[in-house]
Amino acid sequence: FSLRPYNTFDVDVKCKYFVESEKEAEFIDFIREYELKPEEIILLGRGSNFLFTEDFDGTVLYPFMQGIEILSENAEKTSVRAGAGVNWDDFVAWTVAHNLWGVENLSLIPGHVGAAPVQNVGAYGTEAGDCITIVEAIDIEKGIKVQIPATNCRFGYRDSIFKKEWKNKFLITYVVFELSKQARPKLEYGSIKEELKRLGDRYSLQNIRQAVINIRNSKLPDVCDLPNAGSFFKNPVIASSLALQLKSQYPDMPLYTVNESYSKLAAGWLIEQTGWKGKNLGKAGVYEKQALVLVNRGNATGLDIVRLANEIKKSVFMKFNVWIEPEVNII
Ligand code: EPU
Repeated sequence: FSLRPYNTFDVDVKCKYFVESEKEAEFIDFIREYELKPEEIILLGRGSNFLFTEDFDGTVLYPFMQGIEILSENAEKTSVRAGAGVNWDDFVAWTVAHNLWGVENLSLIPGHVGAAPVQNVGAYGTEAGDCITIVEAIDIEKGIKVQIPATNCRFGYRDSIFKKEWKNKFLITYVVFELSKQARPKLEYGSIKEELKRLGDRYSLQNIRQAVINIRNSKLPDVCDLPNAGSFFKNPVIASSLALQLKSQYPDMPLYTVNESYSKLAAGWLIEQTGWKGKNLGKAGVYEKQALVLVNRGNATGLDIVRLANEIKKSVFMKFNVWIEPEVNII
């Protein structure tokens, strides 16, 4: 079964079995019939965070639950449940149309709702985990439905328990979010305020969404025009002592404080300094407007892209003594 339409890098690979359904009961029946081992499956959303380097000799599970519904509300908050297969940005548009605050800064992120808790998708000072209250899933070992409270999800920077101990153990089917009826704009990050000024200086939900869309469109390539998986690497978190040393050497280097001991660097900046921005290695390339994004310039294989990623990784290490790690799942 071809996975080409199911990965935004547009890599031409196949899997042995592909199971797609909108129904939890169908997945439960399937899971009970076949004993699926974590290493023999891939849980796939939109495929916007995957890089396949070869055919996958196993089963891809593709949950496609639809629907967005209000579960409960009071004067301040609304609890909303969305299907794992809902397009993430359609969900964000829905929340903005219903005047609910919380995920507007996450506009235009490619992917499905079901992947949001796994990766704890984030942008412009907001992370999905900030608003998630419950993750509904199917326990793949037991073949039963479970409700996982957010407190058990261990959300971190582009991280959750679903990438660690619980990797491939739960098929996420629905996600419950708690959104605010009261305005709570988060505008501290980067150029959001500047973009809002251009839009007339009104901090409405609609304008914030539009500002984020404008910024993203100016920096990030549309997967339909130029296949990619968003940021290819994570921003490295390093010891503050090393970060300060680098900062004294490179005063222009962006530096974010994580806590007393750790600081985060901008991988895009590090990569740009090594000269890779806008360059290609075969059919794989580094996007010219944002060096953190690797792109498929046409019929690149997964290995072409990995080769480029490794060269970049080496260059960054040679220049800065910092290893950057992929945020994309490499299969
Ligand atoms: N920068 C450069 N050159 C570049 C790219 C970035 O100098 O080629 C500098 C920028 O000038 C800025 C800093 O690096 O000072 C940070 O850049 P930016 O604001 O574009 O954000 P980022 O750290 O590169 C992260 C997320 C993005 C998210 C943006 C906005 C990660 C790995 N990436 O990128 O997420 O949209 O912040 O919040 O954390 C994604 O995960 O796929 C993604 C696109």
